[in-house]
Amino acid sequence: MTPKVLLMSDLHITEPGTHIVGLDPVSRFRRCLDHAALHHGEACHLFLMGDLTHHGTDAEYVILREILSAQPFPVTLMLGNHDRRGPFAQVFPEHSEAFQHGHQDFGATRILYLDTLDEYAPNKHSGLMCAERLSWLQAQLEVSQEPMIVLAHHHMLASGFDGMDEIKLSNGLAVAEMIAGSNRCQMVINGHIHRTIFSSFKGVSHAMIKSPCHQMPMILGAGASSLSVAEPGGYGLLLLDAQSPVLHHVDVDLPSGPVEFDAAS
Ligand SMILES: [Fe+2]
Repeated sequence: MTPKVLLMSDLHITEPGTHIVGLDPVSRFRRCLDHAALHHGEACHLFLMGDLTHHGTDAEYVILREILSAQPFPVTLMLGNHDRRGPFAQVFPEHSEAFQHGHQDFGATRILYLDTLDEYAPNKHSGLMCAERLSWLQAQLEVSQEPMIVLAHHHMLASGFDGMDEIKLSNGLAVAEMIAGSNRCQMVINGHIHRTIFSSFKGVSHAMIKSPCHQMPMILGAGASSLSVAEPGGYGLLLLDAQSPVLHHVDVDLPSGPVEFDAAS
């Protein structure tokens, strides 16, 4: 059976009473988890792709830990620009303050997940693959030739959202070149922008998934990186066929009517 893997990015967990553009990140995340358990309960793994919390505080990570203890999927935690290594490791002591990167195999496909958090970024939010992480990535790309999908919080290439592109992975082009040069990566998937986007670089697909909570308004060229809109939340669903992997985007809480059979079509 084709392995199914769930991807959720940009949870932005807050403490009770703190909302983002009128939305409660905790209830929005729970809605996505419940939706995934109901409709894709056979999924074998859940990757949380960074911006786990909104302010990177101990209290927010404690809330996340409680939520995760009551859901059915094995989880891998990644870090984004809103996360902080110290509080994260304090609440999740099975992790350290070291880079949160690694790989997991699903059938014949390897998922490689990167740590792009730069806590010392001059603009506070852009990402970085430093020399140590680049050398780790190069070794991972060379270790075998099985099909690979790469997950990273920050996007690597220009998206058209100018404000977000100012805070993308700062050496994203070099990283995208390195990945394409391996001739084994089928797809790179990111969060960070909070919008469903598809692009391509040297034969490798680059996709971005929405947040369970708030989204980027569809205003290309916007100068600010902090524009948000209360559109329905969502998550990614990967079908890991080794030859032809598929990424679905699942919207949750869309207004919908009954599913009907259209005999005329
Ligand atoms: Fe985010």
